[in-house]
Amino acid sequence: MKDLHAIFQPGAIEKLNPVAIDRIICALFYPQYDPGPNCSWERLFQTAPVDHYVTFPQAPFHTRFGPVFYRGRLDGTARVLVIGQDPSTDEILAQRIFVGQAGQIAQHFLGKLGLTRSYLMFNSFLFGVQSTSLSGGAVSETEATIMAYRNSLFDHAQATNPLTAIIAFGSHANNCALNWPGRGSLPIIHLTHPTAPSGVAANWNSHLAAAQNVIAPDSDGHVDTTPYSTSGAMPHLDIPRRDLPFGLPAWHGAGGGTQSQRGAAPNFESQIIWSAP
Ligand code: URA
Repeated sequence: MKDLHAIFQPGAIEKLNPVAIDRIICALFYPQYDPGPNCSWERLFQTAPVDHYVTFPQAPFHTRFGPVFYRGRLDGTARVLVIGQDPSTDEILAQRIFVGQAGQIAQHFLGKLGLTRSYLMFNSFLFGVQSTSLSGGAVSETEATIMAYRNSLFDHAQATNPLTAIIAFGSHANNCALNWPGRGSLPIIHLTHPTAPSGVAANWNSHLAAAQNVIAPDSDGHVDTTPYSTSGAMPHLDIPRRDLPFGLPAWHGAGGGTQSQRGAAPNFESQIIWSAP
Protein backbone atom coordinates (compact mmCIF):
# COMPACT_ATOMS: atom_id res chain seq x y z
CA MET A 1 0.00 0.00 0.00
CA LYS A 2 1.19 3.54 -0.77
CA ASP A 3 2.20 5.87 2.09
CA LEU A 4 -0.39 8.65 2.24
CA HIS A 5 2.30 11.05 3.47
CA ALA A 6 3.95 10.72 0.05
CA ILE A 7 0.73 11.86 -1.65
CA PHE A 8 -0.39 14.79 0.52
CA GLN A 9 1.34 18.09 1.52
CA PRO A 10 3.48 17.80 4.70
CA GLY A 11 1.21 18.09 7.74
CA ALA A 12 -2.04 17.77 5.73
CA ILE A 13 -2.74 14.22 6.84
CA GLU A 14 -2.39 15.11 10.52
CA LYS A 15 -5.02 17.88 10.14
CA LEU A 16 -7.66 15.43 8.88
CA ASN A 17 -9.85 13.64 11.36
CA PRO A 18 -9.52 9.82 11.56
CA VAL A 19 -12.88 9.24 9.88
CA ALA A 20 -11.84 11.34 6.89
CA ILE A 21 -8.49 9.54 6.72
CA ASP A 22 -10.30 6.21 6.80
CA ARG A 23 -12.58 7.32 3.96
CA ILE A 24 -9.61 8.38 1.85
CA ILE A 25 -7.82 5.08 2.44
CA CYS A 26 -10.98 3.15 1.55
CA ALA A 27 -11.59 5.16 -1.60
CA LEU A 28 -7.99 4.87 -2.79
CA PHE A 29 -7.08 1.30 -1.92
CA TYR A 30 -10.24 -0.76 -1.36
CA PRO A 31 -11.93 -3.10 -2.02
CA GLN A 32 -8.99 -5.46 -2.57
CA TYR A 33 -11.38 -8.39 -3.19
CA ASP A 34 -14.35 -8.65 -5.53
CA PRO A 35 -17.39 -7.30 -3.67
CA GLY A 36 -19.72 -9.23 -6.01
CA PRO A 37 -22.48 -8.11 -8.36
CA ASN A 38 -24.24 -4.79 -7.96
CA CYS A 39 -28.03 -4.68 -8.02
CA SER A 40 -28.51 -4.66 -11.79
CA TRP A 41 -26.10 -7.57 -12.33
CA GLU A 42 -27.56 -9.52 -9.41
CA ARG A 43 -31.05 -9.14 -10.84
CA LEU A 44 -29.84 -10.36 -14.21
CA PHE A 45 -28.03 -13.31 -12.64
CA GLN A 46 -31.22 -14.23 -10.79
CA THR A 47 -33.02 -14.65 -14.11
CA ALA A 48 -30.59 -17.37 -15.28
CA PRO A 49 -32.35 -20.35 -16.90
CA VAL A 50 -31.12 -22.74 -14.21
CA ASP A 51 -34.05 -25.18 -14.58
CA HIS A 52 -33.40 -25.37 -18.30
CA TYR A 53 -29.85 -26.55 -17.60
CA VAL A 54 -30.99 -28.93 -14.86
CA THR A 55 -33.66 -30.63 -16.98
CA PHE A 56 -31.69 -30.57 -20.24
CA PRO A 57 -32.20 -33.77 -22.31
CA GLN A 58 -29.53 -36.43 -21.68
CA ALA A 59 -28.28 -34.48 -18.62
CA PRO A 60 -25.04 -33.13 -20.13
CA PHE A 61 -24.47 -30.56 -17.34
CA HIS A 62 -23.02 -30.86 -13.83
CA THR A 63 -25.73 -28.91 -12.02
CA ARG A 64 -25.75 -30.01 -8.38
CA PHE A 65 -23.50 -27.19 -7.11
CA GLY A 66 -25.28 -24.45 -9.05
CA PRO A 67 -24.10 -22.07 -11.77
CA VAL A 68 -20.94 -19.95 -11.83
CA PHE A 69 -21.43 -16.63 -13.58
CA TYR A 70 -18.42 -14.40 -14.09
CA ARG A 71 -15.00 -13.07 -13.12
CA GLY A 72 -13.68 -9.53 -13.35
CA ARG A 73 -15.17 -6.09 -13.32
CA LEU A 74 -18.90 -5.62 -12.92
CA ASP A 75 -18.40 -1.95 -12.03
CA GLY A 76 -18.48 -0.49 -15.53
CA THR A 77 -14.69 -0.40 -16.09
CA ALA A 78 -14.26 -3.47 -18.32
CA ARG A 79 -12.68 -2.79 -21.72
CA VAL A 80 -12.34 -6.42 -22.78
CA LEU A 81 -15.00 -9.13 -22.80
CA VAL A 82 -13.34 -12.51 -22.22
CA ILE A 83 -15.27 -15.67 -23.10
CA GLY A 84 -14.39 -19.14 -21.84
CA GLN A 85 -16.08 -22.53 -22.10
CA ASP A 86 -17.51 -23.89 -18.84
CA PRO A 87 -16.67 -23.86 -15.12
CA SER A 88 -15.01 -26.73 -13.26
CA THR A 89 -14.68 -27.39 -9.53
CA ASP A 90 -12.13 -24.66 -8.69
CA GLU A 91 -14.58 -22.22 -10.24
CA ILE A 92 -17.50 -23.59 -8.19
CA LEU A 93 -15.51 -23.21 -4.97
CA ALA A 94 -14.43 -19.65 -5.80
CA GLN A 95 -17.81 -18.73 -7.36
CA ARG A 96 -15.79 -17.08 -10.14
CA ILE A 97 -14.95 -18.48 -13.56
CA PHE A 98 -11.50 -19.17 -15.04
CA VAL A 99 -9.82 -19.67 -11.66
CA GLY A 100 -8.15 -23.10 -11.98
CA GLN A 101 -5.36 -24.18 -14.30
CA ALA A 102 -7.01 -22.93 -17.51
CA GLY A 103 -7.89 -19.61 -15.91
CA GLN A 104 -4.36 -19.03 -14.65
CA ILE A 105 -2.89 -19.75 -18.10
CA ALA A 106 -5.46 -17.41 -19.65
CA GLN A 107 -4.53 -14.79 -17.04
CA HIS A 108 -0.93 -14.97 -18.27
CA PHE A 109 -2.07 -13.97 -21.76
CA LEU A 110 -3.99 -11.02 -20.31
CA GLY A 111 -0.82 -10.13 -18.42
CA LYS A 112 1.13 -10.01 -21.69
CA LEU A 113 -1.35 -7.44 -22.95
CA GLY A 114 -0.82 -5.42 -19.77
CA LEU A 115 -4.41 -6.14 -18.74
CA THR A 116 -4.46 -6.26 -14.96
CA ARG A 117 -8.11 -5.46 -14.24
CA SER A 118 -10.19 -4.04 -17.11
CA TYR A 119 -11.85 -7.23 -18.24
CA LEU A 120 -15.08 -9.08 -17.62
CA MET A 121 -15.31 -12.83 -18.21
CA PHE A 122 -18.25 -15.09 -18.97
CA ASN A 123 -18.30 -18.72 -20.02
CA SER A 124 -20.22 -20.24 -22.91
CA PHE A 125 -22.16 -22.29 -20.33
CA LEU A 126 -23.20 -21.48 -16.76
CA PHE A 127 -22.51 -25.06 -15.66
CA GLY A 128 -19.76 -27.56 -16.34
CA VAL A 129 -20.56 -29.71 -19.36
CA GLN A 130 -19.47 -33.23 -20.19
CA SER A 131 -16.96 -32.94 -23.02
CA THR A 132 -18.47 -35.94 -24.81
CA SER A 133 -21.86 -34.20 -24.85
CA LEU A 134 -20.25 -31.13 -26.37
CA SER A 135 -18.18 -32.94 -28.97
CA GLY A 136 -21.00 -35.40 -29.70
CA GLY A 137 -23.52 -32.64 -30.35
CA ALA A 138 -25.94 -33.43 -27.49
CA VAL A 139 -25.60 -29.80 -26.45
CA SER A 140 -24.36 -26.65 -28.15
CA GLU A 141 -23.52 -23.12 -27.08
CA THR A 142 -26.02 -21.94 -29.71
CA GLU A 143 -28.96 -23.80 -28.14
CA ALA A 144 -31.71 -21.16 -28.06
CA THR A 145 -32.29 -20.66 -24.31
CA ILE A 146 -28.62 -20.94 -23.37
CA MET A 147 -27.62 -18.50 -26.09
CA ALA A 148 -30.39 -15.98 -25.39
CA TYR A 149 -29.46 -15.73 -21.72
CA ARG A 150 -25.73 -15.50 -22.43
CA ASN A 151 -26.42 -12.77 -24.98
CA SER A 152 -28.40 -10.87 -22.35
CA LEU A 153 -25.27 -10.90 -20.16
CA PHE A 154 -23.16 -9.69 -23.10
CA ASP A 155 -25.73 -6.99 -23.89
CA HIS A 156 -25.64 -5.72 -20.32
CA ALA A 157 -21.84 -5.78 -20.35
CA GLN A 158 -21.85 -3.83 -23.62
CA ALA A 159 -24.40 -1.29 -22.32
CA THR A 160 -22.52 -0.60 -19.08
CA ASN A 161 -18.83 -0.83 -20.08
CA PRO A 162 -16.53 0.79 -22.65
CA LEU A 163 -15.78 -2.52 -24.41
CA THR A 164 -13.18 -2.41 -27.18
CA ALA A 165 -12.52 -6.10 -27.91
CA ILE A 166 -13.48 -9.70 -27.23
CA ILE A 167 -11.02 -12.47 -26.36
CA ALA A 168 -12.54 -15.90 -27.01
CA PHE A 169 -10.70 -18.88 -25.53
CA GLY A 170 -11.65 -21.92 -27.62
CA SER A 171 -13.97 -22.60 -30.52
CA HIS A 172 -17.14 -22.70 -28.40
CA ALA A 173 -16.32 -19.28 -26.97
CA ASN A 174 -15.65 -17.98 -30.46
CA ASN A 175 -19.02 -19.30 -31.55
CA CYS A 176 -20.62 -17.39 -28.67
CA ALA A 177 -19.01 -14.15 -29.84
CA LEU A 178 -20.04 -14.75 -33.47
CA ASN A 179 -23.63 -15.48 -32.38
CA TRP A 180 -24.02 -12.34 -30.29
CA PRO A 181 -26.15 -9.91 -32.33
CA GLY A 182 -25.07 -7.00 -30.10
CA ARG A 183 -21.39 -7.44 -30.89
CA GLY A 184 -21.40 -4.66 -33.48
CA SER A 185 -17.87 -4.01 -34.69
CA LEU A 186 -16.04 -5.33 -31.62
CA PRO A 187 -13.01 -7.29 -32.87
CA ILE A 188 -12.73 -10.92 -31.75
CA ILE A 189 -9.35 -12.35 -30.79
CA HIS A 190 -10.02 -16.07 -31.15
CA LEU A 191 -7.42 -18.11 -29.26
CA THR A 192 -6.99 -21.83 -28.73
CA HIS A 193 -8.38 -22.87 -25.33
CA PRO A 194 -5.63 -22.68 -22.63
CA THR A 195 -5.87 -26.37 -21.76
CA ALA A 196 -6.17 -27.69 -25.32
CA PRO A 197 -3.96 -30.79 -25.69
CA SER A 198 -1.49 -29.09 -28.06
CA GLY A 199 -0.67 -26.00 -30.11
CA VAL A 200 -1.60 -23.37 -27.50
CA ALA A 201 1.71 -21.47 -27.51
CA ALA A 202 2.00 -21.34 -31.31
CA ASN A 203 -1.60 -20.21 -31.66
CA TRP A 204 -1.30 -17.53 -29.00
CA ASN A 205 1.97 -16.28 -30.53
CA SER A 206 0.22 -15.87 -33.87
CA HIS A 207 -2.43 -13.60 -32.28
CA LEU A 208 -0.33 -11.71 -29.76
CA ALA A 209 0.52 -8.68 -31.93
CA ALA A 210 -3.07 -8.32 -33.18
CA ALA A 211 -4.38 -8.49 -29.62
CA GLN A 212 -1.85 -5.90 -28.45
CA ASN A 213 -2.91 -3.65 -31.34
CA VAL A 214 -6.56 -3.51 -30.34
CA ILE A 215 -6.27 -3.77 -26.52
CA ALA A 216 -4.56 -1.02 -24.53
CA PRO A 217 -2.78 -1.95 -21.28
CA ASP A 218 -4.03 -0.90 -17.86
CA SER A 219 -2.05 1.87 -16.15
CA ASP A 220 -0.22 -0.63 -13.93
CA GLY A 221 0.24 -3.24 -16.68
CA HIS A 222 3.29 -3.95 -18.84
CA VAL A 223 2.99 -5.04 -22.46
CA ASP A 224 5.21 -8.05 -23.16
CA THR A 225 5.79 -8.89 -26.83
CA THR A 226 8.06 -11.90 -26.13
CA PRO A 227 6.59 -14.99 -27.82
CA TYR A 228 5.64 -18.02 -25.75
CA SER A 229 8.04 -20.94 -25.84
CA THR A 230 6.50 -23.71 -27.90
CA SER A 231 8.09 -26.39 -25.74
CA GLY A 232 7.17 -27.19 -22.15
CA ALA A 233 4.13 -26.22 -20.10
CA MET A 234 2.33 -22.91 -20.67
CA PRO A 235 3.21 -20.32 -18.01
CA HIS A 236 0.52 -19.11 -15.65
CA LEU A 237 -0.33 -16.01 -13.64
CA ASP A 238 -2.05 -16.16 -10.26
CA ILE A 239 -5.63 -14.91 -10.33
CA PRO A 240 -5.65 -11.37 -8.92
CA ARG A 241 -7.25 -11.28 -5.46
CA ARG A 242 -9.39 -8.38 -6.62
CA ASP A 243 -11.20 -10.89 -8.85
CA LEU A 244 -12.05 -13.24 -5.98
CA PRO A 245 -14.38 -13.11 -2.98
CA PHE A 246 -12.97 -12.08 0.39
CA GLY A 247 -11.85 -15.04 2.47
CA LEU A 248 -10.77 -17.41 -0.29
CA PRO A 249 -7.44 -19.03 0.72
CA ALA A 250 -4.39 -17.40 -0.89
CA TRP A 251 -3.43 -20.65 -2.63
CA HIS A 252 -6.74 -21.03 -4.47
CA GLY A 253 -6.39 -19.72 -8.02
CA ALA A 254 -2.61 -19.59 -7.58
CA GLY A 255 0.46 -21.68 -8.31
CA GLY A 256 -0.66 -22.79 -11.77
CA GLY A 257 -2.64 -25.84 -10.75
CA THR A 258 -6.10 -27.00 -9.89
CA GLN A 259 -6.92 -27.38 -6.19
CA SER A 260 -10.01 -29.55 -6.42
CA GLN A 261 -11.62 -32.45 -8.21
CA ARG A 262 -14.90 -34.28 -8.30
CA GLY A 263 -15.46 -37.22 -6.01
CA ALA A 264 -15.21 -40.75 -7.31
CA ALA A 265 -18.37 -42.56 -8.45
CA PRO A 266 -21.06 -42.68 -7.14
CA ASN A 267 -20.37 -39.20 -5.70
CA PHE A 268 -19.08 -37.60 -8.88
CA GLU A 269 -21.95 -35.14 -9.15
CA SER A 270 -22.48 -34.51 -5.45
CA GLN A 271 -18.95 -34.21 -4.02
CA ILE A 272 -15.99 -31.90 -4.59
CA ILE A 273 -12.68 -32.73 -2.94
CA TRP A 274 -10.79 -29.52 -2.12
CA SER A 275 -7.12 -30.04 -1.24
CA ALA A 276 -4.94 -27.50 0.56
CA PRO A 277 -1.25 -27.48 -0.37
N1 URA B 1 -12.80 -22.80 -16.36
C1 URA B 1 -13.65 -21.88 -16.86
O1 URA B 1 -14.33 -21.19 -16.11
N2 URA B 1 -13.74 -21.76 -18.19
C2 URA B 1 -13.03 -22.50 -19.03
O2 URA B 1 -13.16 -22.35 -20.23
C3 URA B 1 -12.15 -23.45 -18.48
C4 URA B 1 -12.06 -23.57 -17.14
